[in-house]
Amino acid sequence: APSLTYPAVKVANLSQVKTGEPIFFNYPDASSPAVLVKLGRPAIGGVGRERDIVAFSALCTHMGCPVQYEEGRFICRCHYSMFDPAKAGQPYQGLASSWLPQIPLRIDGKGDIYAVAVAGLIWGRVKNV
Ligand code: FES
Repeated sequence: APSLTYPAVKVANLSQVKTGEPIFFNYPDASSPAVLVKLGRPAIGGVGRERDIVAFSALCTHMGCPVQYEEGRFICRCHYSMFDPAKAGQPYQGLASSWLPQIPLRIDGKGDIYAVAVAGLIWGRVKNV
């Protein structure tokens, strides 16, 4: 299989991240909306002192509508799919059957948070990069 080379893209600094307030960015390129959120509870793949900062593709895996972060989960209003951001983006309601692709994060010594990969295929693509 071909190896995928993901860029490391700075999303925010820890000092800017507040529980429950999503930060929007694009990754791995400008046409791929993504969202970072501090959940306030530990998450699979979560970074930071509380292991609760995660990021995901913001495109619903059903038909590509934008997902919104509300009340601790991602919801797609097109056909009401819901995804659990603490469980690696697992779909648990609605028509989506694929996990919302998680974007692994790394934090450097200055508290800068970087997106470094995508776990799973972004909606509408044949490859992520
Ligand atoms: Fe999100 Fe259909 S596009 S549920």
